[in-house]
Amino acid sequence: MVIVGPVKFGSTCWRCNLSLRAVIMFRVSTLRLILILRHQSSENMATRWGICGAGKISHDFTVALKTLPPADHEVVAVAARDLQRAQEFAQRHGIPRAYDSYEKLAKDAEIADVIYLGLIHPHHLKVGLIFLRSKKNVLCEKPLAMNSREVQQIIAAAKENDVFLMEAVWTRFFPASIKISNLLAQEAIGEVKLVDVSFGAPLQHIPRAVEKELGGGALLDIGVYCLQFVCMVFNGEKPESINATGVCLNTGVDEAMAVVLKFSRNRMAVCTCSISVQLSNEATIFGTKGTIKIPEHQWCPTTLVVNGEKTQYPLPEPSMPLNFLNSTGMRYEAEEVRQCLLKGLKQSPRMTLADSALLTEIMDEARSQVGVVYIQDGV
Ligand SMILES: NC(=O)c1ccc[n+]([C@@H]2O[C@H](COP(=O)([O-])OP(=O)(O)OC[C@H]3O[C@@H](n4cnc5c(N)ncnc54)[C@H](OP(=O)(O)O)[C@@H]3O)[C@@H](O)[C@H]2O)c1
Repeated sequence: MVIVGPVKFGSTCWRCNLSLRAVIMFRVSTLRLILILRHQSSENMATRWGICGAGKISHDFTVALKTLPPADHEVVAVAARDLQRAQEFAQRHGIPRAYDSYEKLAKDAEIADVIYLGLIHPHHLKVGLIFLRSKKNVLCEKPLAMNSREVQQIIAAAKENDVFLMEAVWTRFFPASIKISNLLAQEAIGEVKLVDVSFGAPLQHIPRAVEKELGGGALLDIGVYCLQFVCMVFNGEKPESINATGVCLNTGVDEAMAVVLKFSRNRMAVCTCSISVQLSNEATIFGTKGTIKIPEHQWCPTTLVVNGEKTQYPLPEPSMPLNFLNSTGMRYEAEEVRQCLLKGLKQSPRMTLADSALLTEIMDEARSQVGVVYIQDGV
């Protein structure tokens, strides 16, 4: 019988005759080495993406991934409701596997580290839950879901299943946006007093932009970019008040909306969005000591003007035609996801789940004031 007593550092190991202290030190450093090697090997492995939905934004996202090193990002599968569409997408992008259902992609345990969910927004919750409950990490297109109740469900599922979830608010990860956050943190323009941001484009020819059952409406489709900008500038602070007014199409969705947000200490933001006309699509932050301006297409910024001084942030060229402006800029959110996964994070510190919850709360309130109600609202 072997009697194991308390470890005394002066004693020796009965198997190798080394001092116990040396044996313990050896084991600790071996364990440390294994952990370092494991971390390094996961850093050396590409993040494997599964694409859910073979539509327009999925195409653009896949093209954006190709602007990143293949050693870091790899698309391993695509799923669509229809096999032929999935196969055509796979062939176009050189993806090895195509599935005719989202469930099949979710069940294939080997295949993907993370799913890019590129479906129209009324399907984000139902399909998002399929992946989250299959323990898949998810990057979900904006808006994360149709309303706060849905967003809370999707967030709860990510937490229960201990997986990563992020709303694909790609704007936040552009170098110009990071620069804005850094400038604000340094109080480069003093205290921010007013933010003015717009997004408008003639989109009424696109069914999903106007039909209620497809999640149509200016606010959820593009106004969300104005609000996310404001939330980024005010660093996730809750507004003290929200005042919205708007006009609706006869489909019952908002054609245009203006949302005024008041924050503490006499700070405010004005957001304007429209799916019928082109707006300036600028974003300006007015501070007590200067201004920061994105002079065009604020949701995918490549130019920044700080106190009159202009800086360009060019994007890489796409390898094939894109459906939307500057879509190669989705590379930055994709890389953010990779970095979060490598660190074992379950959400991005720069676009948190609380940020998504706040964004949706503001949109719920604005919609309720304008009278835009979706079937998902259950009223
Ligand atoms: N980041 C950006 O700049 C940006 C730009 C545009 C859109 N988006 C967001 O991306 C999402 C998709 O937009 P999109 O323009 O790519 O849309 P889309 O091409 O019209 O549709 C995307 C996918 O949604 C599914 N779908 C479409 N209509 C459906 C229907 N009636 N019933 C069930 N499923 C349907 C299809 O999946 P299957 O392929 O499986 O059939 C389709 O491929 C939206 O949430 C939008 O807000 C983001």
